[in-house]
Amino acid sequence: MTTATPTTDFAAAILPFDRPTIARIAADLANFDGKEVTLMGWLYNKRSSGKLHFLQLRDGTGVIQCVMFKGDVSPELFEAGAAVTQESSIKVTGTVKKDDRSPIGFEIGVTDFAVLHEATDYPITPKEHGVAFLMDNRHLWLRSAKQQAIVKIRAELVSAIRNYFDGQGFTLVDAPIFTPNACEGTTNLFETDYFDSKAYLTQSGQLYMEAAAAAVGKAYCFGPTFRAEKSKTRRHLTEFWMVEPEVAFMDLAGDMDLAEDFVCAIVQHVVQTCRRELEVLERDISKLESIKKPFPRISYDEAIKLLNEHGKDVPWGEDFGADEETTISEQFDRPVMIHRYPKDIKAFYMKGDPENEKVALCVDMIAPEGYGEMIGGGQREDDADKLLAGIKEHNLPEDAFSWYTDVRQYGSFPHAGFGLGLERTVAWICGIHHVRETIPFPRLMDRLSP
Ligand code: 4AD
Ligand code: MG
Repeated sequence: MTTATPTTDFAAAILPFDRPTIARIAADLANFDGKEVTLMGWLYNKRSSGKLHFLQLRDGTGVIQCVMFKGDVSPELFEAGAAVTQESSIKVTGTVKKDDRSPIGFEIGVTDFAVLHEATDYPITPKEHGVAFLMDNRHLWLRSAKQQAIVKIRAELVSAIRNYFDGQGFTLVDAPIFTPNACEGTTNLFETDYFDSKAYLTQSGQLYMEAAAAAVGKAYCFGPTFRAEKSKTRRHLTEFWMVEPEVAFMDLAGDMDLAEDFVCAIVQHVVQTCRRELEVLERDISKLESIKKPFPRISYDEAIKLLNEHGKDVPWGEDFGADEETTISEQFDRPVMIHRYPKDIKAFYMKGDPENEKVALCVDMIAPEGYGEMIGGGQREDDADKLLAGIKEHNLPEDAFSWYTDVRQYGSFPHAGFGLGLERTVAWICGIHHVRETIPFPRLMDRLSP
């Protein structure tokens, strides 16, 4: 019989990678019922009553109740079951018992038990903790049920995003992280030494995807992007992930078709594959199930009218803030696309609308329920002279952009694309107030650790 004394001799804690896990047993219960299994994990919670200890074992794939009956184990083991502390690493051997009262359909009747490493004074207890404390302990906070659910949904969303573009004939083209130029304005660039010169951390892979679209037709990149945002809002991170498709010979209308089809596909994928996690987060799933095409499309001018009707006096030419976005999103039960913003408030690369050069052929998609802008994109300036004029107007260094204007020198082509912010999308799907919980280790203006 295994020793009940905690040990850091981990030789007894090695299992094959394809071992039975809680999730695998639950998925194949008919086969596992009545069989003996060994599970390795951490003590999530514990309850005792007389001759029984109910040990909740967490193995990363789920949480299972392991019932230790005094008559089934040695007195030392029963003692160890009484003494084991929250988040100690443990090894449990026992019989799988189908049980309809269990949320995952079975429990384990313990025959053997070992504490591998005892956790003393685990800081995160079932009581309420403040946000700063939880964020300082983010490396441990990730173990709690809600945070695990978010991590899983994020991973499933990433997979859905890749599958969508791969399935639509896009080629993944990785954009660099060190860049010589600003894509989204110079005010929030992170600058770093690069040998004898300077480099910036990328704000967006878009400019590279435009070059890539001329190589592969439909390109996308997906990776971390960086912005020295000096705003402490619930929507801003300094490091966030963005997926950016770019398509040759596509206009703004096609861009909106793509964005809408894409968002429906990834949301429905998560609804289908992550029901349990969404329930852990107490998300109203019906609000996600109703995300279907078509999404409303309104022009900036129409959005201004809508805001006026709701008592918000926004003068033409001003950008919308979180307040305005929320008011607009509240009028619809699905994401809304606002197109043709004033050119002056948008990036240098946007193409002007030939029917009204004061507005750009751009689109922002605003998430429902007040989650704000999740997509920004549009049709790109494809005329070399106009693009150069834009670069000058925005006081950007022409040299650093010569490769980018080159794309218009050799077989210029109409093209469009967009960027979807992963964390804002996770926040919306999970129904979480602040983006800091949507990325495993968030980077914020006032947080670089853990
Ligand atoms: O609207 P943005 O700035 O667009 C671009 O960067 C384009 N170059 C993308 C393209 O057309 N290829 O950013 C796109 C999205 C936003 O809608 C938002 O979801 C997210 O990126 N985003 C942020 N997410 C978290 N924290 C921040 N500081 C963010 N800034 C933008
Ligand atoms: Mg934007």
